[in-house]
Amino acid sequence: MENVQLTNFFSNTVNFFKAFFETKRRFQTQSSFCRLNRAYADKASANPSFVSPYSLINDSIIIKDGIISGCLINSENNLEFIFELYILEIGAVRIRINEKNPLKPRYDKVKDWALVQDPLITLEYNQIPSKAGVTSFSFGKEKNQTISIYHSPFRVEFLVDDIPTIILNDRGFLNFEHLRDEESNTESPSETNQSSSKNSVQNVGTSGDKLDPKLNGPGSIGLDISFPGYSHVYGIPQHASSLSLKETRGGTGAYSDPYRLYNLDIFGYAIDSPQALYGSIPFMMAHRKGASAAILWLNASETWVDVTKCRENKNNLFGLFNSGKSINSTSTHWFSESGIVDVFFFLGKSSSEIFHQYGLLTGFTSLPQYFGISYHQCRWNYLDQKDVAEVDEGFDRHDIPYDVLWLDIEHTDGKRYFTWDIDKFPDPEKMQKDLMNKGRKMVTIIDPHIKRDEDYYVYKEASDLDLFVKKSSGSVYDGICWPGSSSWIDFTNPLAQEWWSKKFAFDQYKGSTEGLFTWNDMNEPSVFDSPELTMPKDLIHHGGWEHRDLHNIYGFAYHKASTQGLINRTEPPRRPFVLSRAFFVGSQRYGPIWTGDNVASWDYLAISTPMLLTIGISGLPFSGADVGGFSGDPKPELLVRWYQAGAFQPFFRGHADRKTKRREPWLFGDPYTSYIRDIIKERYSLLPLWYTLLYEASTTGMPIIRPMFVVCPDDEKVYEMDDQFFVGNSLLVKPIVEEGQTSTEVYFSGNEIYYDYFTFEQIRGSNKIRIKAPLNKIPVFLRGGSIIPKRQKIRNCSSAMHLDPFTLVIALNENNEATGSLYLDDGETYDYEKGYFVHRQFEFSAGKLASTSLSSFDNDKNIYAKLINSVHVEQIIILGFDMKPSRIIAHCTADSDFELQFDLKCFGTLSGINTSDVLVIKGSNLSITEDWTIEFLK
Ligand code: NOJ
Repeated sequence: MENVQLTNFFSNTVNFFKAFFETKRRFQTQSSFCRLNRAYADKASANPSFVSPYSLINDSIIIKDGIISGCLINSENNLEFIFELYILEIGAVRIRINEKNPLKPRYDKVKDWALVQDPLITLEYNQIPSKAGVTSFSFGKEKNQTISIYHSPFRVEFLVDDIPTIILNDRGFLNFEHLRDEESNTESPSETNQSSSKNSVQNVGTSGDKLDPKLNGPGSIGLDISFPGYSHVYGIPQHASSLSLKETRGGTGAYSDPYRLYNLDIFGYAIDSPQALYGSIPFMMAHRKGASAAILWLNASETWVDVTKCRENKNNLFGLFNSGKSINSTSTHWFSESGIVDVFFFLGKSSSEIFHQYGLLTGFTSLPQYFGISYHQCRWNYLDQKDVAEVDEGFDRHDIPYDVLWLDIEHTDGKRYFTWDIDKFPDPEKMQKDLMNKGRKMVTIIDPHIKRDEDYYVYKEASDLDLFVKKSSGSVYDGICWPGSSSWIDFTNPLAQEWWSKKFAFDQYKGSTEGLFTWNDMNEPSVFDSPELTMPKDLIHHGGWEHRDLHNIYGFAYHKASTQGLINRTEPPRRPFVLSRAFFVGSQRYGPIWTGDNVASWDYLAISTPMLLTIGISGLPFSGADVGGFSGDPKPELLVRWYQAGAFQPFFRGHADRKTKRREPWLFGDPYTSYIRDIIKERYSLLPLWYTLLYEASTTGMPIIRPMFVVCPDDEKVYEMDDQFFVGNSLLVKPIVEEGQTSTEVYFSGNEIYYDYFTFEQIRGSNKIRIKAPLNKIPVFLRGGSIIPKRQKIRNCSSAMHLDPFTLVIALNENNEATGSLYLDDGETYDYEKGYFVHRQFEFSAGKLASTSLSSFDNDKNIYAKLINSVHVEQIIILGFDMKPSRIIAHCTADSDFELQFDLKCFGTLSGINTSDVLVIKGSNLSITEDWTIEFLK
């Protein structure tokens, strides 16, 4: 057991380091390779006669087995590079560029971590005749997509219906710094701007004022990628910034630094900034009317992205537009510290096509246990077993549902993960079982830094197995983190992956049960006594790779190993739940993420929306922000507004720093507690919708919460909008993020019908309408044309509601039509993979409502369908129903026809808002697993 004084000493030391490096960070400048690539771009842009020195040697182009390859040469130093282009079965295109004869292999293992498999090549493309010096191919289902490779200067154009959509090396910023030894360390053109061309380059910004020894000189790669005709690009999380990316080299509201992708622990991060945060996904999407395009820059080293927009005359822009007004095109410039160029290009008519292709490449989000989408209660820290019991009991006493109680680092024995402080938590198994008896779960935190203590079994085993990250000298790296002196498991080592995953076995993680799940924190990794609070770049990983090559993979690899641990601990396996702070391309396969240490203030509440929307469209849909704000004490109004916003975000967890006052929802008294209770209950009533959307994300790649441009792709007015969004395609949400605000303007796109979610009042688009939003109300609207499944009866936690009946809310559009779906399974196991799930389609049209199965699996063999065959749709609410039926008859396959009781309500007129006719069918008793149709007779 740790003695208290020692713990305090470490805490104070840790705080000292954090404060010291936080202060230092504020003076950080761009990394040397960032300045160098930017300077190269400046030089190229400033010189009208500049031509990229890279060209494809004409007769080097070979087309074999679907791979188009060639040899690129840099005319300034005659260095050669291998160029490869693959047209992939998933519809995307991949381009790889690597040194032909590198001094030593460059890091090319990102694909092995990030992609689900080596993507398959298609032979379904045609070479098309082109002029000399250009090689062209057509591809895609309709063969309307073209790639034109210009040999000299090297440039690649992607065209859809002959319109350029993405251009690579458009501005000639391709810059591939070759590795070199001491003797051959000559300057490449890009390096002429560097203060030093020696092998040991001062890497200001990533190593503070310390020398970052780069043994083989600078080895950065840079490339520009343009999106002609696209005014908006999105993605490249994680930044506390807007959804539509801002310019970074001049322009309105521009940033002066590029967007940085380098996983870092940033406490109380700056808002409206391109500063790097905890996770990195180098995926960018561009969208315009009728077309979307995207790229994935597959590189895990420190990466920066410049964004510039240029105005072009519409008449001149490839004949795309016929009016004379100018529009923007967007150009981006990407540069990474090391590795190779490995870029994927996605083209589609809509963003949904791209989400699907991207999901096929990097994996769809894994379906979590059902409790994952419920409400989670966390704090640093719940003090002891008694505290846990009291908090748990508090939720019941105050009639507030919740599913999971979380324990932060103080529950351990001196920050030795997989252990318990037995003075405070003498019987962890009983504690978990008490929660489980009520249908609830527990999560404990497990961090990747391992206390250097020979008596700590995890440290000892990892030491004996030689699984720690090393210094370049070969000795084990040590640094400071929560436990004091620590070492870090090298999760890029396959042995470490296997060994770590075994730590979650019940006989190894003593005191753990099936009701215990995991929280992975500090995995950027966070190191308190190192520059930028992370690992030095010259540390050595498995295979001899430097940390600089794979920095952004570290937290991902850790998340992966932990997830595997939870899968392995039971036979048959159950679905894991592991929350991670750091993330990378493909993290969606392992579990949700959250946005780290935010602050209890209105602007952090506001920024959570664009942050989560951005993460969602970048392939990682299951994410959330600490409700209430991690640090600082929210006033009750802010807390209520935060719960209201959080209830409409995918991962919904209240969390608070240890220095904050307690803030369990009942501590604020009424009306605040009631408002929080109401919105948490509303979340529980909508869990069937959230789960259905998670299922959809796990099969199609569609984000769960969707930016306006995804749902209304043809409405240019919404392309920049990021203060309102959709849950799926059906709920329009506008969180209130300003103090004292009691009304807000909501934009309703299209000439569509919307209905107030709470009052059913009808609203017609298309414009901004001021909507009342007193403190007990978040503006939420049902979009006409949608059907959502709900449960009206709310119980203490989600597992208690599995056999409860459903309500369908049908919001009719102007054609009196609506559709929706419902996905259900046991919420725990992998049995759904065998077909044991229920997936229904609801369709209202031509005066009939039908429920049909979206699963081809036979109900008689479907164990889950049998389990819930007593579950019914007990209530159907139809909004905007202008017919007054005399009778409503249900036709069921299993039963003979029967008549349904109903009630017609008409809402009073409100100024500026139309009334809505509502028909309510109660006690309908229609099976959720069987097909049926309801007919409305005049
Ligand atoms: C940092 C995390 O971001 C925060 O959520 C957590 O409470 C602390 N580490 C302590 O574990």
